[in-house]
Amino acid sequence: MTQTDHWNANHYQSRHAFVFEASRDLVSGWLSPQPGERVLDLGCGTGELTAQIAESGAAVTGVDASGQMIATAQSQYPNLTFEIHDAHALPYSAQFEAVFSNAAMHWMKPLDTVLAGVSRALIPGGRLALEMGGSRDNVFAVREAVEGALAELGLPALVHPWIFPSPAELAALLENAGFTVERLHLFKRPSTLSGEDGFRAWLSGFGSGWLAPLGEEERAAVIARAEKLARPRLWNGSAWVADYVRLRALAVKGS
Ligand code: BEZ
Repeated sequence: MTQTDHWNANHYQSRHAFVFEASRDLVSGWLSPQPGERVLDLGCGTGELTAQIAESGAAVTGVDASGQMIATAQSQYPNLTFEIHDAHALPYSAQFEAVFSNAAMHWMKPLDTVLAGVSRALIPGGRLALEMGGSRDNVFAVREAVEGALAELGLPALVHPWIFPSPAELAALLENAGFTVERLHLFKRPSTLSGEDGFRAWLSGFGSGWLAPLGEEERAAVIARAEKLARPRLWNGSAWVADYVRLRALAVKGS
C-alpha cells in the first residue's frame, strides 16, 4: 500500500463499535442478502457486518484498504474471505450480485472512481446498498470545533479528508456510474461517544489522517482546544453526542 494506514483496529472496536452496531438494519432492511448470493462488503473494517451478511447464507468478500483492519477481521472470522484493496482500484469484473458499504464511502474521495469500480464488480441488475455521512451537516459541530481550534492556535487550516454528499449529489454520482436509484434516505443519527474522553477518542481515531500534518504537541493542543469549543454543543451533561447525519442509498446497476 502506498497510503499511510492511519487505522488502529483495537481502538476502532473498543471506542467506535456504534459505527457497525447502528447499521445492522442496513444489512437486514436494505441489502437483504439471499442464500448463495455473492456479496462484496466494501470498507468492511473489522468485519462485524461482513459476518452478519454471511449469516444469511450469502458468499461474502470483505474488502478494506487497511491491512490492520483486515488482519483483525480475518482473525475474528477465519472462515470468511477478506482482501486488502484500494477502493479506487477494485480488481473485480461482473462477479457480485450485490455490493454493500457502511460508513466507508465518505473516506473514498473521489467517489466517482469508486462507484465506477463498484459498477464493474456487479453483474447487470446487481445492487448497491450503502450508508455514509451525508449532507454538509455531518459532524459539522465536530469539524467547526477543530477548525476553530486550529485558528485560535495560529495553525494553518487543514482540509478534512471526507466527502459528505447531499442526496441530490449522491443520486447524480450513482446515475453517472450507471445505477438507477431505488431508495435514498437522509436522516440525523446523534451518536453517543462513550466515556468522558469520547470526543478526544473520536478525534484520535477518525481524525488522525486529518491532523497528520501537525506535530505531536500541536495535535494534542488542537484536540484539547477543540474539546473545549465543542463542549457547549456536544456534551449533554453526561455524555458526548456527535452530530451524525446519515445518507443511505439502494441502487441497481442497469443491464
Ligand atoms: C461518519 O461515519 O460519519 C464519520 C466517521 C468518521 C469520520 C467522519 C465521519
